[in-house]
Order: sequence, then C-alpha cells, then structure tokens
Amino acid sequence: MTSTTLRTHLCGELTAANIGQQVTLAGWVSRRREHGDKLAFLDVRDYSGVMQCVIDDGTDARSEWVVQIVGTVTARPEGTRNTNLSTGEVELTSCTLTVLNAAEPPPFPIDARADEVDENIRLKYRYLDIRRERMQRNIRLRARVNSAIRAAMEEQGFIEVETPFLMPSTPEGAREFLVPSRKEPGSFYALPQSPQLWKQLLMVAGVDRYYQVARCLRDEDLRADRQYEFMQLDAEMSFVSKDDVLAAISHSVTAAARAATGETPPPIERITWHDAMNRFGSDKPDLRFAMELVELTSVFAGTGFKAFAAAASIKGLRVDATTYPDAAAMGRNKLDALTDRAKQLGAKGLVWMKVGEGNALESPVAKFLSDDEKAKLCTALGARPGDLLLLVADEWSTTCTVLGQLRNDLARPPVHEGPYRYVWVIDFPLFVGINPTTKKPQPGHHPFCHPHPDDLAKLETDPLNVRALAYDLVLNGWELGSGSIRIHEPELQRRVFQILGIDDATADRKFGFFLQPFRYGAPPHGGFAYGIDRLVAILAGEENIREVIAFPKTQSGLDPMTNAPGPVDAAQLAELGLRTLPKPAG
Ligand code: AMO
Ligand code: AMP
Repeated sequence: MTSTTLRTHLCGELTAANIGQQVTLAGWVSRRREHGDKLAFLDVRDYSGVMQCVIDDGTDARSEWVVQIVGTVTARPEGTRNTNLSTGEVELTSCTLTVLNAAEPPPFPIDARADEVDENIRLKYRYLDIRRERMQRNIRLRARVNSAIRAAMEEQGFIEVETPFLMPSTPEGAREFLVPSRKEPGSFYALPQSPQLWKQLLMVAGVDRYYQVARCLRDEDLRADRQYEFMQLDAEMSFVSKDDVLAAISHSVTAAARAATGETPPPIERITWHDAMNRFGSDKPDLRFAMELVELTSVFAGTGFKAFAAAASIKGLRVDATTYPDAAAMGRNKLDALTDRAKQLGAKGLVWMKVGEGNALESPVAKFLSDDEKAKLCTALGARPGDLLLLVADEWSTTCTVLGQLRNDLARPPVHEGPYRYVWVIDFPLFVGINPTTKKPQPGHHPFCHPHPDDLAKLETDPLNVRALAYDLVLNGWELGSGSIRIHEPELQRRVFQILGIDDATADRKFGFFLQPFRYGAPPHGGFAYGIDRLVAILAGEENIREVIAFPKTQSGLDPMTNAPGPVDAAQLAELGLRTLPKPAG
C-alpha cells in the first residue's frame, strides 16, 4: 500500500526483520552529520518516521532536501543502537542517493524545537510545521477520529447528507459571516453557524437519521477552543427520546476515542444541570478532581457573623463552601487575590478558613463564629488539618458560579491530563434569566428546544424553573457538544414564542420559512452536535484546537500564510454593489 514508483518502503517501518533487504526510500533529509571526508550520516524522514542512512560517496544533500535513497538494511553496530527510534536497531548502508529536489534552509528546525517558535511563523510556514512529528501525529489522529465517527454513525443507520453553505441569515446565537449577492446587490447570504435548520427539515422530509461531518462558521472572538470555522459531528434523528440521542452520540464518541487512544472509555455517566451546578458550580463540570461544593446555610442558622446571618435568614440566600485540600499554607497575598477574584466574579466577599491541628480554624472571621458552628462546618465539609475552606454567601446562582470558578482556577489540571472524564449534563433550563431589554425570559439554547414534559404546566406561570429536554456532553471541563429534543408541535412552539415576547406575525416574519414546514407533518425528533476540533485536541493532548487544524487562523483571526483577510479590487466591489468605509480610528 505504501510502496510507489519512487519507493519500496516507508522510512519508519524498517526494523531488524528487514536486515539484508535492499530497499528504496524517498523523503526529506532531517539531519546530516559529517564523519570525515566523504562519510556522512543522513537521517531521512517521511511521515512514518526517520531512517539513518550511511553515505560514503560525498553526495551533497542538506536539511529538507528531497531525496531518494537506495540501500541495504543493516544492523547498527553494537553500542550505536537508538532505543528511542522505531528504526533504531538498523541503518541503511551501501547507499545510492538521488537528489529529487534541493531546498532552501527552513526558517525553523523541523522538529520539536519549532514548538518554541512564534506561532505566527509556524502558521506562515504551516506546510513546514506539518512536516513535524507532532503535527503529523495530530493530523493523522484527526483523520482516524473522522473515519471512526463516520463508521459509527453509519453502523447505526445514519446517512450523511450535505447541506447548503449559502443560506439566509438566521438568529442562531453567534454573529454570522455574510456573503454579498452579485445578482441582488444589497442582499446577502449567511454562512451556516451550524446545519441546525437543515437537519430539522430533513426530519420533516422523512430522512429519519441524518449525520454530517459539517463545517460551521461563526464570527466570534477566538480562543483556545474557538475558531471562526470548525467542524461538528452533526446529527438528527426521528421518533426518538433523549435516551436514543444520547445512546447514538455516546456510541460515536466512544468509537472516536477508541480510534484515537486505543482505549474504550467507560459508559458515559449523566448528571442533571441542577446537580452539576450544585456540586461543581459549572454546567461544564470537570470530574477529574473533587472539591465539590457543599451547602452550609443551616450551619449558620443563628450565627452572629453578619454576612452569613442575612444569608441564613433571607429566603433565596444561602451559604456554600468548597474545600481546597492541603492549601492552608497559602500566604496572605494569594488569599487577598482570591478574594478579589471572587468579587470580580460577582461575590460580595469571600471567607477563607485555614484548618489547623484538632480542626482549629484560623480566619479573620473565626472570632464571630461559635464553637458549635465551627465544628458543624468542619463536619459538613469533611475538613482535615491542612485544608483551606472557602465560603460564599449569596443567591444560589452566585455562590455556585463563584465557587465553581474558584475550584477550576485553583485545582483544574491541564485539559489533557489525567483520565478522560466524559459526562452528559441533562435537563438544562429552558430559559436563563430575563432579557434586560425585552423583560422576557431568554432561551437557554435556542427557541426550538422541547420543554421537559413534566414542566409543561408551569411554562407560563414559572418559566425560569422549566427544564428543557436539552443536554450537553462535557469532557474534562470542556463543552464538547449540545443537543435537544426539538419542538415539533406548532401550538407548543407558539406558546414558547409568546413567553419570549415573539407574536405570531413576528415569528412568521423571522422564522416563517422554518415554521411552515412543521405544519406539514413533522415527526418528533431530536439531535446533537459535537465539536470535532475540541474532541481531537483533548484526545491528542493539545490545549489549543489550532494544533489539530491543518490551516487554522491566529487568535486575531488572520492567516499569516495567505494574508487573509485582505482587500479586493474596486471592480470586484463594484460588481457586488459594495462600497467600503474607511477603517474606524483606534
Ligand atoms: P452548539 O452551538 O452548542 O450547538 O455547538 C456544538 C459544538 O460545536 C463546537 N463549537 C465550536 N468549536 C470550535 N470553534 C467554535 N467557534 C465553536 N462553536 C461551537 C463546540 C460545541 O459544543 N446546532 C446545535 C446543536 C444541536 O442542537 O443539535 C449547535 O450547533 O464543541
Ligand atoms: P465585611 O463585614 O463586609 O467587612 O466582611 C467581613 C468578611 O466577610 C470579609 O472577609 C468579606 O470578604 C467576607 N464577606 C462579606 N460578605 C460576604 C459574602 N456574602 N460571602 C462571603 N464572604 C463575605
């Protein structure tokens, strides 16, 4: 499979089993070491690895020259074997070298040293960066993952359907990339934020099980886990409950993980959104470490400490805490910084307590607490000498999110470290808070998520406590994906729109093209999408999705290789009926 007209073997596949064979390799010179007048050792590299070749005819071939080399596989002399290399027991001798292409010296070494090079330079010469072992490994791992995902979806009866790139602008959440229309100057297509709309229409169309390895585009601020364009495994299925969707997606994620790491993850556990917030203070809980949050409101029922007395007596307020193990030695500066961080996150303050011998508590507020309160809080938190306790009093949403963020700040391991901990977070709320402008509830995900059937009765009366049939998949604290059972009943959709303050006429104007098909017999359906870049990054042990994308954009959204984005000719603009404004100052 790997032999071609110009080679018989790959560099990395030769072992002691090939000793005595004459082989032809083709690749790049990764290193040249001179040994006297005409004798040189050349390391020749292709994607599979490196082979040491002994050249004794003085042929010139320098770093990154492309060469073909014919030689005999020979055991390396005792004492010169390299156990770090798959080919370290052998070398190629009696070599004939043909230079296929000379090369200019590369702008950075094509090895691990390039990890230290400025990322703009790596991306400017991405084709050289990808020659390196790390990038080859990542890109090949990604290909294996893609292939496993496709196979796993097809095994389950999903078919891949491609959906349009040019579509109308739709309100899906993120800012869209727009494409001007030449035939209709002043009109624009939008590039898809996801195939959401199309996949639901495919369910109305009777496709039953759709999937797509889909490119999505969102004009968002870029971060380690965000690019303008990214790939989703996108799926939708008909006549299903949430459990069917979770099972189908679990199967594909598990297959992807197995393809990447060789290990099958254990069955993916589930946690409700409410429990995730209560226990980990996050809807993206990282289960690799403990520091679970514990409610202490009842401990402070009759406390003399002002900040907690209010919380214990006023409905809606509470006290929560987390235990940072073995951190009692933390210095005053760090503790002050932690308090500032808590305030910045929205807390009114932060109480810290150092647990000493016999569970004696050292804290600026210790003098306000009774011995009984101290004993009870230590018991509730399972405190041990050496621990640092952190307490916040406030509304539930504040105590949870502040302590959840501190928990992550203090103890979260790098994303790829430790075991892979997948978790389904289910029963997300249908609405999150009140929109300050419309004074109406705002959708938690999008307005098409099905409310939890047990909560339908309180849709109008207590909307903020209605759960949705919406769920996320989380891996090591990263959101991998989201999905939901969708509303397929026009009447229920109208009720949800009304709660959002969208009347029938507005709904028709904004989403008519999407809602009308639902009047022609929409099956109950639901689906999911997960980010392939994110999954591959974690499985490859990379902190940034750029490391698993062949040609990514920089953090500022630029491509240093092609210099995109760039200006276009005036004629091109005129044809599109566009005129540009000068760049705003500053
Ligand atoms: P959502 O918007 O949550 O859901 O996206 C699903 C997953 O896509 C990945 N993702 C990204 N990856 C890299 N860069 C980005 N800018 C980016 N944005 C999102 C994440 C995310 O969890 N249509 C719905 C799914 C559904 O309801 O079926 C959707 O797109 O991993
Ligand atoms: P104060 O009474 O505001 O001077 O606060 C006394 C201590 O309690 C300080 O260490 C504050 O950071 C802390 N504190 C005040 N309010 C809260 C709160 N709501 N939750 C946790 N700690 C608080």
